[in-house]
Amino acid sequence: MSGKIVGTGSCVPDKIVSNDDLAKIVDTSDAWIRERTGVARRHVSENETVVSMACIAGQRALKDAQMKAEELDLILVGTSSSSTIFPSAACEMQHRIGAVHAACMDVSAACTGFLAVYQMGQAYIRSGMAQKILLIGADTLSRLVDWTDRGTCILFGDGAGAVVLTAGGAETACEVMHSDGQKGSALTCDSRYRDGARDLSQDPSTYIRMDGKAVFQFALSRVPEVIRETLERAGCTTEDIDYYVLHQANIRIIDGVTRRLHEKAEKFPSNIEEYGNTCAASVPILLDELNRAGKLKKGQKLILSGFGAGLSWGAALLEWQK
Ligand code: COA
Repeated sequence: MSGKIVGTGSCVPDKIVSNDDLAKIVDTSDAWIRERTGVARRHVSENETVVSMACIAGQRALKDAQMKAEELDLILVGTSSSSTIFPSAACEMQHRIGAVHAACMDVSAACTGFLAVYQMGQAYIRSGMAQKILLIGADTLSRLVDWTDRGTCILFGDGAGAVVLTAGGAETACEVMHSDGQKGSALTCDSRYRDGARDLSQDPSTYIRMDGKAVFQFALSRVPEVIRETLERAGCTTEDIDYYVLHQANIRIIDGVTRRLHEKAEKFPSNIEEYGNTCAASVPILLDELNRAGKLKKGQKLILSGFGAGLSWGAALLEWQK
C-alpha cells in the first residue's frame, strides 16, 4: 500500500527582492531576467532559517491534515542549506513542533530534495516502517549565492513546503529517481569546512557555481524522459495526467518540457514569477498553492518532478485523494 497526501503547507520569507532591486547590485535588467527565466521577484530570508520556515510550513500541513505533531512517526527534510551540519534540520524541527514520536533525518539532494524525501516516505509506508510522515523541502539558497554573479543570483529564492503523507494511497502511485555524479561539476557549492590552513570563508568555490547552459540542456532532456518512464511504469499515459508539478527552475525549462511531452500549457502550473527557484521547496510550495486554491480534485492524477545538482532527477505519479 502506498502513501496518500492528506495535508500541505508552505512558508516564504517576508522580504521581497525584485528584479529592479537586483539591477542595482549587478549588471542586469528586469526585462532580461523575465525573458530568460520567468522570475519577477523572490523572497529572501533575513531572520528566517531552513528550520524556522520548515516548522511553519510543517505546522500548516499538519493543520490541513487535522493531525497533531505527536502522531507523526517520521520527519524527512530535503535541504542543502540548513544552518547546522548537525543536529539535522529534521531533529531541530521535531523539538520545536513537539513531534516526540518521530524518527528524524535530513536528505541532501539539492533541487531534487523534495522528490527524494517523497519517494523515501512512500518506501517507508510500503514497507510498513512508518504510517504518518511529515515531508519537507526547505532551502535558503540566498545564503549560498554569490550576489556579485549575475549568472546565478537572479535565479534563486528562499522558502519551505510541507506535505503530510499517510498510509492508504492509490495502487497507481509510482516513483522513479536517477543520478549522474559524472556530470556533477555543472552545478556545485563546496562546503565551508576548514581546508588545512586555507580560509575558505570567502572562497568562490563555497558559493553556487553553475554552467547554466549545461544544466538547462540536462533538464530539457532528462525531465521529459523520467516523466515518460514513470507514466510507463504506472501503466498511464499523458492523457491521464491533470497537472504536472515541476521544480520551478526556469519558465523556459517548463515550457520546453511541455512541448517535448506534446502537452497543454495549462497542465503546468507555475509560480516561478513570485518565488524564483526555491530549490527543494519549489515542488511542495506549488502543490500547497494548488491545494489551497481548491484546484486539486479527488481522483485527479498528478506528476511531481524535481531535478538539479548531483546531477539528480526524478518524478512521481500520484492520485489526489484528499
Ligand atoms: N543579466 C543580463 N545579462 C546576463 C545575465 C543577467 N542576469 N546573466 C548572463 N548574462 C549575459 C551573459 O554574460 C551573456 O553575455 P555575452 O553574450 O555578452 O557573453 C549573455 O547574457 C547570454 O548568457 P547565457 O549564459 O548564454 O544566457 P542563457 O540564455 O543561457 O541564460 C540562464 C542563462 C542561467 C538563465 C540559463 O542558462 C538557465 O536558466 N540555465 C538553467 C539554470 C538552472 O535552472 N539552474 C538550477 C537548476 S536546479
